[in-house]
Amino acid sequence: MSQIPVVIIGAGPAGLMLSHLLHLQGVESVVIESQSRDEVEATVRAGILEQGTVALMRSTGVGDRLDREAEIDEGIQISIDGDLERIDLHKYTGHSVAVYPQHEVLIDLIEQRLTDGGEILFSTTVTHIEGHHTEAPVVHLQNSDGTENRVATSYVVGADGSRSLARQLLLADGAQRLKHEYPFAWFGVMVEAPQTHPELIYATHPDGFALISTRTPELQRYYVQCDPEDSVDMWSDDRIWSALHTRVDSDMVSVSEGKITDKAVLRFRSAVTSSMQSGRLFIAGDAAHTVPPTGAKGLNLAIADVALLAPGLARALKKGDDGLLNNYTSLALPRVWKAQHFSYWMSAMLHSAPTGDPADDLFQTHRRLAELRTVTSSDAGRQLLASQYVGLDLPTYEV
Ligand code: DHB
Repeated sequence: MSQIPVVIIGAGPAGLMLSHLLHLQGVESVVIESQSRDEVEATVRAGILEQGTVALMRSTGVGDRLDREAEIDEGIQISIDGDLERIDLHKYTGHSVAVYPQHEVLIDLIEQRLTDGGEILFSTTVTHIEGHHTEAPVVHLQNSDGTENRVATSYVVGADGSRSLARQLLLADGAQRLKHEYPFAWFGVMVEAPQTHPELIYATHPDGFALISTRTPELQRYYVQCDPEDSVDMWSDDRIWSALHTRVDSDMVSVSEGKITDKAVLRFRSAVTSSMQSGRLFIAGDAAHTVPPTGAKGLNLAIADVALLAPGLARALKKGDDGLLNNYTSLALPRVWKAQHFSYWMSAMLHSAPTGDPADDLFQTHRRLAELRTVTSSDAGRQLLASQYVGLDLPTYEV
């Protein structure tokens, strides 16, 4: 049985960044990932990095490619029935966001971990976590060829995504999971086309929401609001283009068309698990909380969790001081709830949520558009949206 101070389950943003931050503190860890490296590096996810995430990537030596390749956006566009309103992120916050998709962050972190001699076990499944209430937990693994082995450790971190195995143990220990489901979803497409607009467009229209985002000058990412029960085959290319043009086009903008290379339905869910720890077991990122996609807070929250967990673990392992670690959940949750609120608020303002009562639906549409106009037409409203969009500073703790 091998022995390593921290076992991290999951090679997503939380797991890989945690392993990287621990390494910078001189703490060894192993990352166990059920998917192959190719699968991890190819998974399509959101693309907005908050200012704090960008600052952390830069200050810890994994920001070079981001600085070369990411599009830096100093503003976003809100389109209300074709009227564009710009939210000047930089004017209101002094910050901007980076359009740099999650899988690119993962490619950079994997490369850095391997360059630094870090261990990532791909295509390896955690079957069982034993003894998380003792000082010496054991993690049981199954490799892709069916062989099994065990790792003895001091701490286990479940960064194993929304279907987390680690979370099941916390729930069995009494943690609560609070959830919310939304009556809408997104239909996401990847399109080989030139950029529609230099900045992201969050569009709302009586028919529903649409989002214009980008990946590269030649590859665009668009979303249209759909029903959560819709399947991919219900959205022909013609239906997608018609929805996008109706919801986004104006005198200023025309959605650029091209070959659609990927189609997927994204469900909207909120969930928060508390406590995020029990004994020597901790959860971070999507394992602990899920936000709906509007505003792209998921990756950023995962990074914020581990910006707290890394110094907590390093203090415990290097100095025998577990004070910060014991307070992980209470220090992490206020930010989680703020992001939860922001994602909910943006989603509710921008999407139609038909109730079946046409008069009430019309009332809600007018009220919702008035709320959006209240936000976009005042300095106070724009400031509130901008500051939450670029994100709070990340926690910084000395070890
Ligand atoms: C993207 C996703 C989002 O949820 C968002 O708010 C902005 C951009 C994206 O995938 O590019």
